[in-house]
Amino acid sequence: MSETSSFFAEGGVQVSAPGRVNLLGEHTDYNDGYVLPIAIPLRTHVQAAHSADGRFHVYSSNLDESADFEADGELPEGYARYVAGCVHVLRDHGVDVPPLALKVHSDVPMGSGLSSSAALEVAVLRALRRLLGLDLDDVQIAQYAQQAEIRYAGVQCGIMDQMASSLADVDHMLFLDTRTLERRLLPMPANSELIVIDSGVARTLATSKYNERFAECREAARLLGVPMLRDVTDVRALAGLPTTLQKRARHVVTENARVLAAVAENLDAAAFGRLMDASHASLRDDYEVSIPALDTLCDMLRAEDGVYGARLTGAGFGGACIALCTTGRAADIAGRVATRYNRDRLLQLAGVLLPAPSPEDGANQPQPLFD
Ligand code: GLA
Repeated sequence: MSETSSFFAEGGVQVSAPGRVNLLGEHTDYNDGYVLPIAIPLRTHVQAAHSADGRFHVYSSNLDESADFEADGELPEGYARYVAGCVHVLRDHGVDVPPLALKVHSDVPMGSGLSSSAALEVAVLRALRRLLGLDLDDVQIAQYAQQAEIRYAGVQCGIMDQMASSLADVDHMLFLDTRTLERRLLPMPANSELIVIDSGVARTLATSKYNERFAECREAARLLGVPMLRDVTDVRALAGLPTTLQKRARHVVTENARVLAAVAENLDAAAFGRLMDASHASLRDDYEVSIPALDTLCDMLRAEDGVYGARLTGAGFGGACIALCTTGRAADIAGRVATRYNRDRLLQLAGVLLPAPSPEDGANQPQPLFD
């Protein structure tokens, strides 16, 4: 706290929120569809207190960088934009947010598809809820966090990541209908556990084709005469669409069906794994958001004994892969695959394999950043 102590008045609060991986249901949330994320053990921590000098201050201990902003002024750049975005959203909802000092530390790496921005938004809003005594439930926290991202970071994201960060835990899959926000916490398939490996290829949603995919889905729905692609359940209905839109829509329709199949009772890990493989193929071939590094990692994971299935997780264009494997085998398999994929650059942190800093950085710890 020494870096920021001059900004802090008495009586601060400290909270955190997790990153997530998504098991199935990718690029379905902004189509009102179904998703199945789970929280990961990596978390973003936020300390908040009233500001001693009447201005907003935010300090990132990962970056060792500070930013200042005014509640009604210009938004700062970088990670601080998400923090300021949360303040702006609260003001949009009539909350009078006094000047604050916030300190942020994150284990969730930037650009890995592990929802670093949602973890930051949810942690900031949790901190402000506690500090200011706001009457917000966990769903509202997720909704406000999503609004911060859409209105102030310019990403037309769905609500999956924020709901996962706000409501999921590391032991249960969060089955969520993103249209109604009905949800259930479900156990993982029996006798299975997860492997998470970051490809080391960073992407940010703001610069990826994420918003382009969003627009393609809206256009497909418009041409089909339905409110959202969620409203289509039979791929035969897509026949009249132009080729590219047909592929995008086919991914969404089949992916929604995969989530529903995955939450059917008594589905075993092998069947769940096959759904993951099919999801990856659909993301690669129809939605075209995979990249060779992710395909390679998934192939390597699938080649291992005890792996039921593997897929990219998150938006794609880089980031992480997940695999489902027999209980007790994850560490062993992940270690072997990391060695084959890139011996020197992956290290294990709380069950997630992350890119290690290169020796020239002079560091011996991962350097998590924010989107
Ligand atoms: C990002 C977005 C989510 C979701 C996924 C893709 O993580 O923030 O809302 O659309 O991509 O499934």
